[in-house]
Amino acid sequence: MSQVRHLIEPEDFTLEELMQLVDTGLSIFENPSQYRKVCDGKIMASLFFEPSTRTKLSFDSAMMRLGGQVLGFSDANTSSTAKGESLADTIKVVNDYSDLIVMRHPKEGAPKLATHFATIPVINGGDGGHQHPTQTLTDLITIKRFKGRLDNMKIGFCGDLKFGRTVHSLIRTLARFGNKEFYLISPDELTLPVSLKRQLEKQGVKLIEVRYLEDVVEELDMLYMTRIQKERFFNEEDYVRLKNTYILNRDKIRTAKEDLIILHPLPRVNEIAIEVDTDPRAAYFEQSKMGVYVRMALICKLLEVGPYARG
Ligand code: NCD
Repeated sequence: MSQVRHLIEPEDFTLEELMQLVDTGLSIFENPSQYRKVCDGKIMASLFFEPSTRTKLSFDSAMMRLGGQVLGFSDANTSSTAKGESLADTIKVVNDYSDLIVMRHPKEGAPKLATHFATIPVINGGDGGHQHPTQTLTDLITIKRFKGRLDNMKIGFCGDLKFGRTVHSLIRTLARFGNKEFYLISPDELTLPVSLKRQLEKQGVKLIEVRYLEDVVEELDMLYMTRIQKERFFNEEDYVRLKNTYILNRDKIRTAKEDLIILHPLPRVNEIAIEVDTDPRAAYFEQSKMGVYVRMALICKLLEVGPYARG
């Protein structure tokens, strides 16, 4: 293999590469049987030091649908981390057992650190409140599928914009795709980090911060709902006070555009009422489904197999 590539943050890939992953993911979705054996003989290590349903299982499913195999753990307490082993040592060992590592870790920067001890590709499946690049790929493939484009949209992000890593990765990427206007809907305590706001404003992006979704919902082409990130709060009281700030229901989207798409990385707690699930604008379960296909494309790219095989 040529120089090893990793995916730690979306900026690790050019816009062309991101677009190609989305298009490859859509082709795999259309015709999955063609890809059934492209990872024959390959092993993916799935190291989850933090809870996960979709990211872990969609990666496992992606690798299995490509004909590869999976090993790993979904609870760090069942690994030698519980005995005090360092991340560096764990990675050095797993590096010899597999061809690709997907990891999620509560500490920001842990997957980046892992790249220093790995000679195989490392994928960040979420690091603390920092980044979640493969959720961004999942979001992009869903947007492309339902809206047919990745630019020229008015986009609302609603909920926990402070700790929500999916928001941090996606907003940067949508700005790179040329989207110029974002509505940031959050309580004062959970606004987007200032450093990220400054970075976006420098790129010429207009950020409109509001407290109430009802004030802007009519404007939006896409609404990205998020969960209040309980596990990142320093005290329970603040979480309890903020946890039900937003509850999207049918009434709140009454005046929204007909071609709005509503996304949510899931899991949801209370922030979208079940009654919204049957609204044609609700795309969040399609979104989690598309995550498998774009991750299949990503695995192929990093292992240089199938559609990414070299000459
Ligand atoms: C997200 C995450 O882990 O950041 N979940 C996911 O990967 N689909 C969102 C969340 O946990 O709220």
